[in-house]
Amino acid sequence: MQTLNDLLGESKIFLSREALSPHYTPKKLVFREKEINSIERAVAPSLKGDRGRNLFIYGKTGTGKTSCVNYVIEEIKQIPNTKAKISYINCRIYNSRFKVLAKVTSDHLPTYAKRGYGAVDLYERLRNWVEEDSKIFVAVLDEIDMVKDLDDLIYTLTRINSDIKAGGVSMIGISNRVSFKEDLDPRSLSALYETELVFPPYYATELYAIIKERAEIGFRKGVASDEVLHYIAAQAAKEGGDARFSLKVLARAGELSEERKIPTITMTEAQDGVRMAENESVYELIGTLPEHQKLVLYSVALLTRSGGTYKKLTDGVDTYLFSGEVYNRYRSICDNMKKEPKSERWYRKYLSELEMQGLIAAFESGKGIRGHTKLVKLLVPTKKTCDVLEKDLFGVPEHNGGAA
Ligand SMILES: Nc1ncnc2c1ncn2[C@@H]1O[C@H](COP(=O)(O)OP(=O)(O)OP(=O)(O)O)[C@@H](O)[C@H]1O
Ligand SMILES: [Mg+2]
Repeated sequence: MQTLNDLLGESKIFLSREALSPHYTPKKLVFREKEINSIERAVAPSLKGDRGRNLFIYGKTGTGKTSCVNYVIEEIKQIPNTKAKISYINCRIYNSRFKVLAKVTSDHLPTYAKRGYGAVDLYERLRNWVEEDSKIFVAVLDEIDMVKDLDDLIYTLTRINSDIKAGGVSMIGISNRVSFKEDLDPRSLSALYETELVFPPYYATELYAIIKERAEIGFRKGVASDEVLHYIAAQAAKEGGDARFSLKVLARAGELSEERKIPTITMTEAQDGVRMAENESVYELIGTLPEHQKLVLYSVALLTRSGGTYKKLTDGVDTYLFSGEVYNRYRSICDNMKKEPKSERWYRKYLSELEMQGLIAAFESGKGIRGHTKLVKLLVPTKKTCDVLEKDLFGVPEHNGGAA
């Protein structure tokens, strides 16, 4: 247990905790010159007063998408007297057309934003603002898959272009979710995917270089050995080449050394750090799932906890649930929440999404077990998953920032 004195005293491990936090933007983004250049090329026309092509950026979590786009946004902000105006919108927070329009208004027309206008007024005001001195407005929509009425948002933003005589609007959409485009209207899809840029996962050697640099700023000299850094980089490469994960492990390992009052990070802290970061990542991932996937996962977790009505299949170690029973539970949860349950076709898609994320395993039973059915098994801790989802789904009152 650390005393308050320990906490306030100068750390023997950390020089700058900030440098290891996920919100820290490094000055230099190594191994991403090509990607940064592609983003620059997409926005370059707007600096000259022409509408650039829309850009869609896809890449797994922690591959540097947000960091690279922010890097380019900062570059643009340094350029004086440009017609290009840009808004960075985190769609996890601004998750509807109305909220996005309100955010853009508050970025660029702050006096107007406070007056509580509806979506139509906001739209007209923004359109006039763009047209006024032929501005080129670039909307950066990070985690764009979180927008509930994305077709409407894309339609609204692209419509400005046909409504105005001068200026223009372009979009940069960012997502780490491949499948969300299946839900999109073909017109939205072709607008958004005018140009596409894919961020590949980082290799272990690249992750090593990234965390080595960060360790040098974040830790006192000699705290993190090369052996430890290579180990962490290799683990993060296995986790999908996720730089955020590698930084989180590093921070956790440092905190453990501090708690254990040892002067360096040993392999024990590195290994414990990996386990801690893995746990945290799972629950963060659950928090980012679309609502109906959360509800399906919640159904799996509830049934795993309480046991199904049908006899569960137990092969000695593992317990499997029948997919049909999970679907029934999902439907009854939706009914209780006064939500329309999705069809079985969607449900099967959700199962394979959850499986791809490593949260469940789902497979065909083969012949003999109640005909031919799918079996489902929860791969993450049952109680904690239930708790996290209950807090997420029911804990905070439904908040609607105004209908569009
Ligand atoms: N090339 C790089 N050099 C240095 N640090 C990097 C690099 N790429 C990513 N990072 C660090 O990794 C962390 C995660 O990066 P970032 O947030 O850009 O990922 P992302 O692709 O947006 O992930 P997500 O899909 O989860 O939003 C950041 O804290 C950033 O500092
Ligand atoms: Mg991001």
